Amino acid sequence: MAPEGRRALALLLLLSLARSGGTGAAAQLSLRGSWRLSNGNGSLVLRGDVPGCAHTALLRQGLIQDPYYRFNDLAYRWIALDNWTYSREFQTPFDVSIWKKVSLIFEGVDTVAEIVVNNITVGRTNNMFNRYSFDITNVIKEANAIQVHFLSAVWYAAEQSKIHQAYQVPPECPPPVQKGECHVNFIRKEQCSFSWDWGPSFPTQGIWKDVRIEAYNLCRLIYFSVTSHYEQSTRQWSLKIELDFDVVSSKPVDGLVTVSIPELQTQEAQAIELYPGESSTALLINISKSVALETWWPRGHGNQTGYNMTTVFIIEGGYKIEKFSKVYFRTVELVEETIPGSPGLSFYFRINKLPIFMKGSNWIPADSFQDRVTAKMLKLLLQSAADANINMLRVWGGGVYEQDEFYDTCDELGIMIWQDFMFACALYPTDQSYLDSVRAEITHQVKRLKSHPSIILWSGNNENEAAIASNWFSIPQAKMSIYSKDYVTLYVKNIREVVFAEDKSRPYIPSSPTNGWKTVKEGWLSHNPYDTHYGDTHYYNYLSDCWDWTTYPRARFASEYGFQSWPSFSTLTKVSSEEDWSYTSNFSLHRQHHAKGNDEMLQQAGLHFKLPQGTNPLENFRHTIYLTQVMQAQCVKIETEFYRRSQSEIINGEGRTMGALYWQLNDIWQGPSWASLEYGGKWKMLHYFARRFFAPLLPVAHEDEDVFYIYGVSDLHSDAELTLKVSLHHWNSMEPACTMAKEGVVIKAGSAIAIYKEPIGDLLRRCGNCTRQSCVITFYFAGEGKLSSPNNYHFLSSLKDAVGLQKPQLTVSISQEEDQFQLVLETTAIAPFVWLDAGDIPGTFSDNGFLLTEKQRIILFHPWESTSIVELKKSLSLTSLTDIS
Ligand SMILES: *[C@@H]1O[C@H](CO)[C@@H](O)[C@H](O)[C@H]1NC(C)=O
Ligand SMILES: *[C@@H]1O[C@H](CO)[C@@H](O)[C@H](O)[C@H]1NC(C)=O
Ligand SMILES: *[C@@H]1O[C@H](CO)[C@@H](O)[C@H](O)[C@H]1NC(C)=O
Ligand SMILES: *[C@@H]1O[C@H](CO)[C@@H](O)[C@H](O)[C@H]1NC(C)=O
Ligand SMILES: *[C@@H]1O[C@H](CO)[C@@H](O)[C@H](O)[C@H]1NC(C)=O
Ligand SMILES: *[C@@H]1O[C@H](CO)[C@@H](O)[C@H](O)[C@H]1NC(C)=O
Ligand SMILES: *[C@@H]1O[C@H](CO)[C@@H](O)[C@H](O)[C@H]1NC(C)=O
Ligand SMILES: *[C@@H]1O[C@H](CO)[C@@H](O)[C@H](O)[C@H]1NC(C)=O
Repeated sequence: MAPEGRRALALLLLLSLARSGGTGAAAQLSLRGSWRLSNGNGSLVLRGDVPGCAHTALLRQGLIQDPYYRFNDLAYRWIALDNWTYSREFQTPFDVSIWKKVSLIFEGVDTVAEIVVNNITVGRTNNMFNRYSFDITNVIKEANAIQVHFLSAVWYAAEQSKIHQAYQVPPECPPPVQKGECHVNFIRKEQCSFSWDWGPSFPTQGIWKDVRIEAYNLCRLIYFSVTSHYEQSTRQWSLKIELDFDVVSSKPVDGLVTVSIPELQTQEAQAIELYPGESSTALLINISKSVALETWWPRGHGNQTGYNMTTVFIIEGGYKIEKFSKVYFRTVELVEETIPGSPGLSFYFRINKLPIFMKGSNWIPADSFQDRVTAKMLKLLLQSAADANINMLRVWGGGVYEQDEFYDTCDELGIMIWQDFMFACALYPTDQSYLDSVRAEITHQVKRLKSHPSIILWSGNNENEAAIASNWFSIPQAKMSIYSKDYVTLYVKNIREVVFAEDKSRPYIPSSPTNGWKTVKEGWLSHNPYDTHYGDTHYYNYLSDCWDWTTYPRARFASEYGFQSWPSFSTLTKVSSEEDWSYTSNFSLHRQHHAKGNDEMLQQAGLHFKLPQGTNPLENFRHTIYLTQVMQAQCVKIETEFYRRSQSEIINGEGRTMGALYWQLNDIWQGPSWASLEYGGKWKMLHYFARRFFAPLLPVAHEDEDVFYIYGVSDLHSDAELTLKVSLHHWNSMEPACTMAKEGVVIKAGSAIAIYKEPIGDLLRRCGNCTRQSCVITFYFAGEGKLSSPNNYHFLSSLKDAVGLQKPQLTVSISQEEDQFQLVLETTAIAPFVWLDAGDIPGTFSDNGFLLTEKQRIILFHPWESTSIVELKKSLSLTSLTDIS
């Protein structure tokens, strides 16, 4: 801080300059809106909106059908192989001659392009994730023409791989079942845009973010970020405000920055000096200790308190910039320490000193065409995540760094973000031009995103450490060192170095899965990144019985696991025609991008459920969709409950699991996938299950060698005294065969503990002559006041073997209550997996996919758009397990 006297003087001087006015310090011209789009040979010329891409422009002009319809991903492959040009003319609304510098700024270009202004090439782009700023001072006139000439990303990636002659960088191409394009690892573009095992190949071309012209005389503010820091020894919160300017002046420029946070009684002015060229400066602001400061908390653990901050820059010449921002205070630690009774190290997050169990999922791009991803859609998806008790999402490394609105919404909702850098399931080149591009990308993204308290971890890539360790690409041993060296060069010597230079306020890990410190010790490439004693783990197994918890790794942190299902019929009908509506149609095969995926779903479902055998093909198809969703929901439930109950235990050296992020939250199109939210946001059965299995207080059951256990799991901040209520029902009776209550059960804050244990034979015998096949166990916690858990259940046998299950008569009556609907559901028999489907009416039910053991149950439907009882009645369908035959 400048000494008082000097500061006051500087302030006075600058304020007087500001009053004298100068010439307004900058001028802007947005180039968003309508451009001309043409293909390589000029046979197509159409309007193309910016932001946008060639695919959505063609669609809007009616030149192509919905690219997601049926087999159109193949039919429209030509679009990505052509070379498109965006062009337009524009008048400069300001006198260009009075500005010292004029910059043309692209927030995002997808991807390889030459930018021509008034017949002069002003720059080139080759990284979708970078921001580009081109000096057009000597090029701009009053009337201007701009062209952005794109090269096919597919063609460019192939060329780059050809140029890279020294050695191959695998994989060359995706598996044929993905129907994708090759060499995506040679282009800094959304990696899944060349296809993935849940998504189509649409390698877009276009200007996908804002583009504008800025003119200025002295300087332009490029980045502004705020991060909070807590000094334990002095108990002092401080803010680090970082500024990056482009300074045009030939001499250093003096300025004054005033920061005020009225609610924290913090007001400070500091003098800054900016140097010609790109100039960075940082201010440290101590927060007054005399005011009570509320920290930002993850969802479920407290409020997401933030404070308004105003920052005013006054720079000589009277240039004034004002910034309004919200600042948040929180700490994050990734704790790797020894655990008594267990080899290895812990791997968990402490937020504001509190260990937090991470409940969540993995985020992928919400559409193949990013310009269709609206802020509204992002909010809808994130609110659905929040409504399912999710407190963490991993922004997966094969997609994109998300829009600002995504992170703003996560800040507001308290959803923590594990942020991957965009590298996935591949090896990558490391020649200098590639590294330079990556360094610019990482610098840009970290500067852009570091103010968000929701982001609590940077992570180098998705599964690339594992790809080398498990030799996914069959690299001969003799050549392995080349790839290991490249790996360290990219994720450690470059990305990690850039991250630490830009942001020391949160941890960095090189990959997921990884082994934390073990990986570091093994030269950044562990022999087995899946080691359950270290770091995080990904686990997939479609063939073993998913009801058998002993198949799951008792990992420190489960960052990926899951099972596929089909999206609902109403979602599929939007992109299919009648001939497609069977599980074995060409369409159903075409949409499945995971080899043998459709068979695996049936095989897994067939372990416990009767598969549809009806004579009506359409009904069979709908029932199969339903059953894949039942299977997925039940499998992910059992696996997630296993991870949650492993939170406090060490068994055979494994345990202390502190995270469960299932794969995957959302969908990129209408196809089979691991998602719990369909394209468009409709909740699959899994998402309703997630709301229950991620509840803050939950009893979970399992059997171990014929002993039945119930664990209590709590994410609460204080110990909970509860009553555990357990019932056994014969499948053929709605009157319980027996009920028990265990009072005075205490579950410590943030823990999981066994609270009930009984040999299964004893339990069945003393409970109405139950057998494994004839009965089902249900249980929940009740406590003081509002404290309670969702109802949970445990099946004692496969439901295909259940004895006494009757086909219920399910009826529903609907009434409207303001903007929601009340559904009174009545049944004549116990009904497993009761499924309410509102068809095309978007909205959510207060519960769904449940086991109905009571005669009547009231469910609420919250529509996302206004609707009526008549419409709802018409669209609503009801299914339960015994409908499948
Ligand atoms: C121009 O390009 C389009 C799209 O690639 C192609 O279908 C057409 O045959 C080409 N026309 C000529 C005259 O080459
Ligand atoms: C796209 O441009 C490349 C490079 O100039 C060229 O080789 C390729 O033939 C072009 N593709 C089309 C469809 O015009
Ligand atoms: C670009 O160059 C062409 C000829 O090379 C000329 O006809 C045209 O007027 C120029 N356009 C602009 C905007 O300068
Ligand atoms: C902020 O507080 C720390 C310790 O409390 C002190 O060392 C430092 O000098 C203070 N910084 C400013 C800019 O006041
Ligand atoms: C959260 O905010 C509410 C409402 O402002 C307040 O009553 C409550 O005390 C806050 N909780 C915490 C933990 O700060
Ligand atoms: C913070 O800023 C927002 C937006 O300008 C405003 O609506 C809100 O009232 C402010 N809050 C406080 C406490 O000043
Ligand atoms: C399915 O696709 C194959 C190969 O593309 C084709 O020969 C066959 O006619 C298609 N069947 C139907 C029913 O469309
Ligand atoms: C068990 O079954 C026997 C024979 O059906 C019956 O007599 C007895 O009452 C049953 N016990 C219970 C607890 O339901």
